[in-house]
Amino acid sequence: MPDATHVVAIDQGTTSTRAMVFDRRGEVVAADQREHRQIFPRAGWVEHDPLEIWRNTRAVLGGALGKANLNAGHVAAVGITNQRETTVVWDRSTGQPIHNAIVWQDTRTQAICNELAGEEGPQRFAATTGLPLATYFAGPKIRWILDHVDGARDRAEAGQLLAGTVDTWLLWNLTGGAEDGGIHVTDVTNASRTLLMDLRTLTWDAAIAAEVGVPLRMLPEIRSSSEVYGTITPGTLAGVPVAGILGDQQAATFGQACLQPGMAKNTYGTGNFMLLNTGEEIVTSRHGLLTTVCYRLGEAKPVYALEGSIAVTGSLVQWLRDNLGIIRDAAEVETLAGTVEDNGGAYFVPAFSGLFAPHWRPDARGALVGLTRYVHKGHIARAALEATAFQTREVLDAMSRDVSGAGAEPFLTELKVDGGMVVNDTLMQFQADLLGVDVVRPKVAETTALGAAYAAGLAVGYWSSPSQVTANWGEDRRWSPRMDATERDRLYRQWCKAVTRTLDWVD
Ligand code: G3P
Repeated sequence: MPDATHVVAIDQGTTSTRAMVFDRRGEVVAADQREHRQIFPRAGWVEHDPLEIWRNTRAVLGGALGKANLNAGHVAAVGITNQRETTVVWDRSTGQPIHNAIVWQDTRTQAICNELAGEEGPQRFAATTGLPLATYFAGPKIRWILDHVDGARDRAEAGQLLAGTVDTWLLWNLTGGAEDGGIHVTDVTNASRTLLMDLRTLTWDAAIAAEVGVPLRMLPEIRSSSEVYGTITPGTLAGVPVAGILGDQQAATFGQACLQPGMAKNTYGTGNFMLLNTGEEIVTSRHGLLTTVCYRLGEAKPVYALEGSIAVTGSLVQWLRDNLGIIRDAAEVETLAGTVEDNGGAYFVPAFSGLFAPHWRPDARGALVGLTRYVHKGHIARAALEATAFQTREVLDAMSRDVSGAGAEPFLTELKVDGGMVVNDTLMQFQADLLGVDVVRPKVAETTALGAAYAAGLAVGYWSSPSQVTANWGEDRRWSPRMDATERDRLYRQWCKAVTRTLDWVD
């Protein structure tokens, strides 16, 4: 594409799909976004319609290109970033999914995980995969679909079904799907969220796949995060190469220019995800974090990360809006929380999918504790916001212990933040207070889409080196800690007590 002036990223997230057009300085030129349905068939189950996600992807690509007044000839490459772990199984000859996508937050695979853990416990595959056996990950979700859809296992073994995370589903459709030989590929970061990939060899582990009950032939080929995978066949961007794939949290780490070991970012989305770049070293957590692939650029050595995943942060605000109706839109939570000086003694532990890092307690369920007649909806809004910051403190403490040893002070001097909730000044100040380190927001807040754009642009020479990612990064705003240490410790102690009240809830 000699006249190409821009790069496009598809950001397929948990609640919506976006397309963003970036220029060479890494700035957003245009964007389009569509929400998709959240399907809750039972308590603890969460599904998406893969065809709706594919329709929305095509629509936002057209929308963003139209707004930018560009056509395919202007686009050097497309990058994909996606909600990770969410799993799709589809028929290769019709392109039809055989079940709704099972979303990362879904807890239905608990029995499968318990059975696989057996006597050895949830860390059984951790040395190879970097992950505990938990409902979060994709492999057991594929197994569940094969176990529950009539005839699925036979069809999978006969090579008629394909499986993948959402990156794979979109790439296959973008590159021709059933009609035109869609490419069945994933990248190392998404593959590292399946419980089926060996972190060292970056290949599927045949023994683990057999144990989990996933036929290898339905799995995509694992490739790097930055290379030309194929060319878009139908629609607005026909002829443009797809050249970058990163799971959304890894993409945000890349977009935040955390390219050196020791650099970390925290993304405030439906959940929160803190990733620490550990370079070429595979660091095994002893305090409840995951080891994951951070990125791999073409043939270069892979870069790894330690990750603290929190299932529910921003989605708690949505829950206040949709399930309780105490706010009309997400932004109103800050106004409501601003009507009170403090949480009034109330603590909200949103263990809606059990507790993820650093606890990994599937038996936990949400609790609102410390209630008295004094507490009103302002305090509940405040407690909901604070829950995000408290959970982040737990993850940073675990990371500090993994990196520097027990009882260590935070090893970071500042934390780079991004995601929807970082516009919330009350939350960001409380976060800095509770961590005791500066919290820093970048000028381009769309770091997830930006990271995927960089991965794609680097693969086709639109950007010549990752140093341009660092050069383009700029600080927008910084929050410094103001709370005194005694108050910080008191609040955190109360939070830890509240967490204990959520455990052992599910038998
Ligand atoms: O691991 C789940 C994560 O990738 C979801 O991110 O931003 O779509 O909530 P998000």
